[in-house]
Amino acid sequence: MKVSVIGAGNVGATCADVVAHKELANEVVLVDIKENFAEGKALDMWQTSPINMYDTRIKGSTNDYSKTANSDVVVITSGLPRKPGMSRDDLISTNAGIVKSVTENVIKHSPKAIIIVVSNPLDVMTYCAYLTARIDSKRVFGMAGILDTARYKAFLAEALNCSPKDIQAVLMGGHGDTMVPLPRYTTVGGIPVTELIAKDKLDAIIERTKKGGGEIVNLLGTSAWYAPGASAAQMVEAIVRDQKRIFPVCAWLQGEYGLKNVYLGVPVKLGKNGIEEIIELKLNDDEKKLLTASSKAVKEVMDVLDNMNKAVAK
Ligand code: LAC
Repeated sequence: MKVSVIGAGNVGATCADVVAHKELANEVVLVDIKENFAEGKALDMWQTSPINMYDTRIKGSTNDYSKTANSDVVVITSGLPRKPGMSRDDLISTNAGIVKSVTENVIKHSPKAIIIVVSNPLDVMTYCAYLTARIDSKRVFGMAGILDTARYKAFLAEALNCSPKDIQAVLMGGHGDTMVPLPRYTTVGGIPVTELIAKDKLDAIIERTKKGGGEIVNLLGTSAWYAPGASAAQMVEAIVRDQKRIFPVCAWLQGEYGLKNVYLGVPVKLGKNGIEEIIELKLNDDEKKLLTASSKAVKEVMDVLDNMNKAVAK
């Protein structure tokens, strides 16, 4: 297996490190536009192999995509991160151009790859990669749901003073303030969460989850990387090990949940073919309303991208 990670910044480097550490591939290629940056990070990581006891080869490259040729999975993390006061959507004009050119290079050298997009604004950058790659949408999807669900689970584990391992949850919608955590589908060791925590506390956790990325941006002055990098690596694992795991993933909807032509977070089954199934939950009216509102918010930003593309085409 060969996995390439484009963008050797904090998220990309963390993802590559986890992929190598878990031996999910025999070769990991890290690419960055900044001269020698990916080479340096890859060399440093490779020097942990005798300590961490893995044999995955890690290589770095300055923008030479021929090094990524015939990758099975490519993770795209390129683009600017948020600064305090910015929404993810503020990044669109800069990051759309970056994600487009990266995707062109990726697909040229790895036409059969599965592409996982991590760049922000996530749902719209995934759409951008899909428009550029012109491959089946089952092979182009975005990482956000695992991250947002992990934040929700981590907050719950803290509030309940229990192991995060015992929390099962699903969260839907866009990767932004309109995301939809679903308490009705949250259990702790098989017990509905609503039996273990007061409603006001759960509501506060849901609100904190929606702004979970922003909380870290405010603390660090830039966006998170450990959890985003590990989340992307978990998707790589599900694919390369053909695990058929069920995760919320940013997927192209074609009528599921009554929504069409939009990239949005929904539960899917992930395996060697990418998205092998989109799972349709029987949402109640309130949940449906929240999901539809989230879809509208994402579509508005997708329209911004479509208009940018039209302006370029003219
Ligand atoms: C976050 C960024 C990576 O949520 O979107 O931390």
